[in-house]
Amino acid sequence: MRSVAGCLLRYACEVARILLADDEVKLAKFLATVLEQQGHEIVRVEDGRAALAAVAQAPFDLVVTDLRMPGLDGLEVLKGVRKRPEAPDVIVMTAHGTQQIAVQAMKEGASDYLVKPVAVDEFRVRIQKILERRALIARADRLERQLEARDGLSGVVARSEAMRGVVASATQVARTDAAVLLLGESGTGKSLLARAIHRASPRREHPLVEIHCAALPDALLESELFGHERGAFTGADQTRIGQLEAAAGGTVFLDEIGEIPAATQVKLLRFLQAREIVRIGSSQARTVDVRVVAATNRDLEAAIREGRFREDLYYRLSVFPIVVPPLRERADDIPELIARFLATRGQSSARLDEQARVRLVKHRWPGNVRELENALERALILAGDGPVTTQHLPAGTRPEAAVPGYSDVLVEGFNLDDFEQGILAFALARTGGNKAAAARLLGISRRRLYTRLAHLDGDGACEDDDDTPDPGVQIRQPR
Ligand SMILES: Nc1ncnc2c1ncn2[C@@H]1O[C@H](COP(=O)(O)OP(=O)(O)OP(=O)(O)O)[C@@H](O)[C@H]1O
Ligand SMILES: [Mg+2]
Repeated sequence: MRSVAGCLLRYACEVARILLADDEVKLAKFLATVLEQQGHEIVRVEDGRAALAAVAQAPFDLVVTDLRMPGLDGLEVLKGVRKRPEAPDVIVMTAHGTQQIAVQAMKEGASDYLVKPVAVDEFRVRIQKILERRALIARADRLERQLEARDGLSGVVARSEAMRGVVASATQVARTDAAVLLLGESGTGKSLLARAIHRASPRREHPLVEIHCAALPDALLESELFGHERGAFTGADQTRIGQLEAAAGGTVFLDEIGEIPAATQVKLLRFLQAREIVRIGSSQARTVDVRVVAATNRDLEAAIREGRFREDLYYRLSVFPIVVPPLRERADDIPELIARFLATRGQSSARLDEQARVRLVKHRWPGNVRELENALERALILAGDGPVTTQHLPAGTRPEAAVPGYSDVLVEGFNLDDFEQGILAFALARTGGNKAAAARLLGISRRRLYTRLAHLDGDGACEDDDDTPDPGVQIRQPR
């Protein structure tokens, strides 16, 4: 029967796996029975070598070992056991008069010692105490890990249901080594999440290396990732380790992954498959332990269809995809984001007047959280020491910009076609003729802008002279 006292702590009642090492078979059998009656699982061995073999085979919570045994003695068992990861506790048993060795065992890391002959009650109590302490330590470790994971993600505002889901997934995947692919529009917080995942992961004590794949020319990107040997190419006057090696034990964050050239895609795939890298100019493969988090604001599936991105690489990168929704789909986050941004600038939330707050919450934020942060920053500067009002917000967020004064426009002689032509021309002038930007400004699709321009011109044809496509948007040429 289990002791009632032990059950005061729920976790102390968990069944423990205990290894009993003693060559006095009769005594060992008796002690095993005592422990089995308490519900524990017992493995019995008769010498030191067998004890070490047993702990190497399967995990134990506790090893109870006699000090004097044939072959390897109890001290050596203790040393061998303590070296193991997640080492079990060790209690040594010693004959009366040899306590001196027991003291040494305590110095070597034994949790307790018992002097033979052992009274059954004392034996039970001592074992129970060690197991309770072990359970408490394990619980504290678990809680600490949970707290660390929460801290890692605590910098990410997540009030909305959508964002709470994102943070919950990120917290779960952070504990693993799975490759994470962060997808979402620019400014939604992908980089922030990538860093948070690293901080919440068991790798947090190791480096997080960020590589901005779009910012580097092709040749440089490859050498940045994989490193190079001296003389590998002109200018390589020294051997350099790549960032994947530099991140060993930690995480590498591959930002703008959609931008990597075909040759580098092949090398990256090889790395993800075998965790091996080969420095440029070397033939030696090196194994590196690195967790990969990647991000992109591009439509990678479209890039695959168009043959610009390898499908096999995509599957390796997106073992765990997380889609970060645009800010317009999670307006519930805006008040807290505002509070956070004001607080980090040492400003109280009262700086913002009510109308301005409502405006900010209602705006659609095409540039997402980054745009909101910039708008606030600018408004704080414009407002000086006074309150931030709608006057200090960017034109697009102001109500007067969204709702024109109809009574001023709709007067005698008004013509809708002229008005439309006027406003289209105004939008184009303001964006320097960039139709994609003008369409955005007008709140319509580019196709719709073409149709309207064509309609007003009186013919169906319209040239696409705009060669600056939106990032992340595949634009088909109008026929
Ligand atoms: N949920 C959030 N909580 C707090 N701050 C956020 C949040 N999301 C984004 N931010 C802040 O907004 C800014 C933009 O975020 P971030 O750089 O992570 O976006 P991104 O998705 O990586 O953009 P890009 O695709 O352009 O690289 C950063 O200053 C970031 O700290
Ligand atoms: Mg980013």
